[in-house]
Amino acid sequence: MTADSKGRGARLGAAAPLRGLWPFVRPYRGLVALWLGALGLSSVATLTLPVAVRFMIDRGFAGEDPAAVDRWFAGLLAVAVMLAVATALRFYFVSLLGEKVIADLRRGLYQRLLRLDIDFFERTRAGELVSRLSADTELLRTVVGSSASVALRSTVTFLGSSVALVLTSPRLAGFAAIGIPLIILPIVFFGRRVAKLSREAQDRVADANARASETLNAIHTVQSHAREAHESGRFATAVGLALAAARLRIGTQAGLTAAVIVLIFGAITAVLWVGAKDVIAGTMSAGQLSQFVLYAVIGAGSVGALTEVWAEVQRAAGGMARISELLAEEPSIRAPEPARALPAPLQGGIAFHGVGFHYPSRPDSAALSDFSLQLEPGETVALVGPSGAGKSTVLQLLMRFHDPSTGRIEVDGIDLRELDPVALRERIALVPQDPLLFGADALENLRYGRLEASEDEVMEAARSAEAHGFLSALPDGYRTFLGERGVRLSGGQQQRLVIARALLKNAPILLLDEATSALDAQSEALIQQALERLMAGRTTLVIAHRLATVRRADRIVVMEAGRIVAIGSHDELMAQGGLYAELARLQFVA
Ligand SMILES: Nc1ncnc2c1ncn2[C@@H]1O[C@H](COP(=O)(O)OP(=O)(O)O)[C@@H](O)[C@H]1O
Ligand SMILES: [Mg+2]
Repeated sequence: MTADSKGRGARLGAAAPLRGLWPFVRPYRGLVALWLGALGLSSVATLTLPVAVRFMIDRGFAGEDPAAVDRWFAGLLAVAVMLAVATALRFYFVSLLGEKVIADLRRGLYQRLLRLDIDFFERTRAGELVSRLSADTELLRTVVGSSASVALRSTVTFLGSSVALVLTSPRLAGFAAIGIPLIILPIVFFGRRVAKLSREAQDRVADANARASETLNAIHTVQSHAREAHESGRFATAVGLALAAARLRIGTQAGLTAAVIVLIFGAITAVLWVGAKDVIAGTMSAGQLSQFVLYAVIGAGSVGALTEVWAEVQRAAGGMARISELLAEEPSIRAPEPARALPAPLQGGIAFHGVGFHYPSRPDSAALSDFSLQLEPGETVALVGPSGAGKSTVLQLLMRFHDPSTGRIEVDGIDLRELDPVALRERIALVPQDPLLFGADALENLRYGRLEASEDEVMEAARSAEAHGFLSALPDGYRTFLGERGVRLSGGQQQRLVIARALLKNAPILLLDEATSALDAQSEALIQQALERLMAGRTTLVIAHRLATVRRADRIVVMEAGRIVAIGSHDELMAQGGLYAELARLQFVA
């Protein structure tokens, strides 16, 4: 018994992470109270039912007083009605509670996730986060909305029926007390095994799914290497493993079910047998025996229900532990209390003072060292350098996706760390190196730059970015669905769309990261004017690979291995020879 209670303690500990749900349940305390009330009522009705049956048999069938017969049957009916109403209410309240709690949890979790820093997303796989938002919360929904309710109800009815068994017949209850551990121990033992096996089966399924989604996302790579057979083989192996794990679980569970039925009905038969002798001997009435058997059935049923939901509660606890971890995650990039406000309108002066930085995943190699640069409001500065020189990193730091390890960055004389990053990013328009579009229509993708922009403003921006032509030629014009991540557009078209989006944002600071790399020379020449219009009056940092763009900059900064190696105009830098002249000769020849 001690070993068993210790085991129980440890297993109850496994449900401890569910305490993390309390902040989400707390707002619905009223609903919890209603649920507990209905639970109490339905438990009382359940436990009263055998008593009503006993009196119905002993008094109702004895037939001494016809009026009493009517009364006992009416009583039984009343208890049944009460049970029905209380059960319906209990189900209603607890299911509603589950839905509300999980809706809040999902909202809270998503809101939290979106505010975490880029560094976190580089450490974590997006698929994992999505599965926490969907699979783990789904698991919790069943637990809050049903399993927890079943567990509590079963515990109450088990305790209630145990007491009732003793009250009904202490002698028979004594026999039962010896029998019950004999039934429960094997059930608990095999139940744990089933839980472990089902966890394993689930992990195998998750593996197979991860493999499939990885492959489908890279379908171009798979088909271009003609590796379809190889991939189906890999997936089949993963599915096969999942199947084998599931087969083992199903077999064990089937055996467990048979054992449970034999044990429980064996025990009930034994009790009936002993009880029948008592009834013949006249020490017990038939009604009392029926009452006892009913309590035994109710008690055993609740133990069965408990073992069934326990595995589910444990799984949900695992899910909640993972969710709690996410909820506890604090973004390292966040607004200080109180955050300083940026001047309005923003001048757009930018200053890097001795900035050093290495990415958290590469603590040993610096992406930027001793980077100092000042941009006057409205100035256009071009960053050039070989790939990996740290050009994109400069823009990342200016957007405050990361904080510098040493030195500081200022906008209009204010250290970025004193600002709310959201306010800062509102004033910066970035055209990134790889334009990522949403699986939505063109209009929606463009409006992401300014959510409240009118349709005319959107088209105006598209026209300036040379995107209007191809967008209006799409089957549904601006309302055409662009495909997942915008795959239905060419690389150059995607870039023009992203430039239009930046135009629409109309921010005082503009960052262009090889914004025209996917454009042919002709399209680039076309949108060059648009870009120039865009740059006018804005502080612009432009990373470009074409001489045409670079030459127009007020100053050119040459970078290599995270350091500035030269600053000057095109002619000055050409005259110096060195890296710039070399790059110009190799890359800018077009
Ligand atoms: N997210 C990242 N995590 C770790 N290292 C990175 C990351 N992004 C870039 N780097 C590294 O930092 C260096 C500078 O990269 P980047 O600024 O993208 O170069 P550029 O834009 O000049 O080609 C490179 O060595 C690159 O491998
Ligand atoms: Mg880059």
